Amino acid sequence: MKKEIEIELPVIVLNEKAYVESAGNRGLELAEICDSVATERGVSIVVCPQQVDLARVASASSIKIPCFAQHVDAVEPGSQTGFVTLESVKEAGAIGSLVNHSEHRLKIADIDFIVTKAASLNLLTIVCTNNIAVSTAVAELKPYAVAIEPPELIGSGRSVSKVDPAIVADTVKEVKRVDENCLVLCGAGVTNGEDVRAALELGADGVLLASGVVKAQDPRAVLLDLVSGL
Ligand code: G3P
Repeated sequence: MKKEIEIELPVIVLNEKAYVESAGNRGLELAEICDSVATERGVSIVVCPQQVDLARVASASSIKIPCFAQHVDAVEPGSQTGFVTLESVKEAGAIGSLVNHSEHRLKIADIDFIVTKAASLNLLTIVCTNNIAVSTAVAELKPYAVAIEPPELIGSGRSVSKVDPAIVADTVKEVKRVDENCLVLCGAGVTNGEDVRAALELGADGVLLASGVVKAQDPRAVLLDLVSGL
């Protein structure tokens, strides 16, 4: 029986996306690297496997860290084809989901449906946003967390916490003004411990990242550097 898992802060959330490097067994191996670094260094890491690997990774005996889905659809269970329901994400063993990632945008009504229903299912939601106005609006929906990610920096290797520190600091300020309990993560271009430290100094509760680890020659080495910033 997997022990009750919570997200400790600060946290590093690895979004495995749909990269070839994170498909199938490679996705499980990346999650195992996250798990071993989290255990070894006593830090908080969450992994978001590819959708088709979610149940397999979340239920693997080698994985004790929390898993999140990369996306859920705003649909009820039933006669739906190819959609992912919150209930199925919970059944798969995830404790939450990313929502509205810039690579999978949703309407505000869908975000509201997902955040509200996730809360009723005791699932956590990390809602991705692209600017301060959207972050402020999303905070009104009471998600578990907002993750500010300027799309133009995603995959760039140029960290939002260095390139645009104001968007991080101002998102923290505005989101906490709306809901002091809502966490704020930041992402896009985060690739090393310095980037992580800078994000935390700006008031973020953690970071969301992908390519710096998934596409690395040595994902473990990169992750060890990233957690040095926590
Ligand atoms: O979900 C996080 C992701 O969008 C950031 O991408 O590759 O810049 O770390 P990356």
